[in-house]
Amino acid sequence: MNFSAVIVAAGTGQRAGAGPAKQWRDLGGKPVLRWSAEALAKAGAHQIVVVIRPKDRALAEAALAGLEGCHFANGGVTRARSVASGLAALSPCDAVLIHDAARPFIPEGLIGRLLDALEGAHGAIPALPVSDTLKRQTPAGIQTTAREGLWLAQTPQAFRYQAITSAYADTSRASEVTTDDAAVVEALGGKVVIVQGDPVLMKLTYAEDFTIARALARP
Ligand code: CTP
Ligand code: MG
Repeated sequence: MNFSAVIVAAGTGQRAGAGPAKQWRDLGGKPVLRWSAEALAKAGAHQIVVVIRPKDRALAEAALAGLEGCHFANGGVTRARSVASGLAALSPCDAVLIHDAARPFIPEGLIGRLLDALEGAHGAIPALPVSDTLKRQTPAGIQTTAREGLWLAQTPQAFRYQAITSAYADTSRASEVTTDDAAVVEALGGKVVIVQGDPVLMKLTYAEDFTIARALARP
């Protein structure tokens, strides 16, 4: 199954505090964005569309220097709009991987497992079972929620080209608030399956997350 990738890197990283947005920060000698772009290129992505804010173009070109197959698209004000923009810039292919630039580490072998799972589904996503106890805070107090059957969704998420492009074709369907592409396919009745995720697929969200990522980036 041939595949292309969309990496969304048009966020402003508000929760990570002052300084450059997360995707442009250094991690073990190269920008955060480059880690996943290299992994996707190595796994055989035909095209890699990197969605950025137009003002970040020079940063993006420097971050991806020398990597084959990278193209740029302009991001939108929400993640969903950035994804839609990236999909619109792709040439048709069998499968599309959609990935957050803020998740630098894509483990070896994961992309192959996602593509295998896509043989019998419209979408395949890496996820981890919830291991902590879940609490819901309500005006009436705290309730404990059963964690059985609950998973934490990660990226890259793999989709059949037709399934994801038709899901995003109507941007009103791709809710402005969704942060998960599989949810857009599920909403259309598409079949999405879970593949075992990996803690190293952690998303850099807060400044403290860089401490763990720097340890993981050590050779
Ligand atoms: N993203 C994007 N376009 C947006 C918003 C987010 O391409 N309008 C991307 C981010 O660059 C990131 C990924 O989506 O790679 C996941 O989003 P998140 O971790 O929320 O990053 P930010 O939106 O940049 O951070 P924050 O929410 O803290 O501002
Ligand atoms: Mg965000």
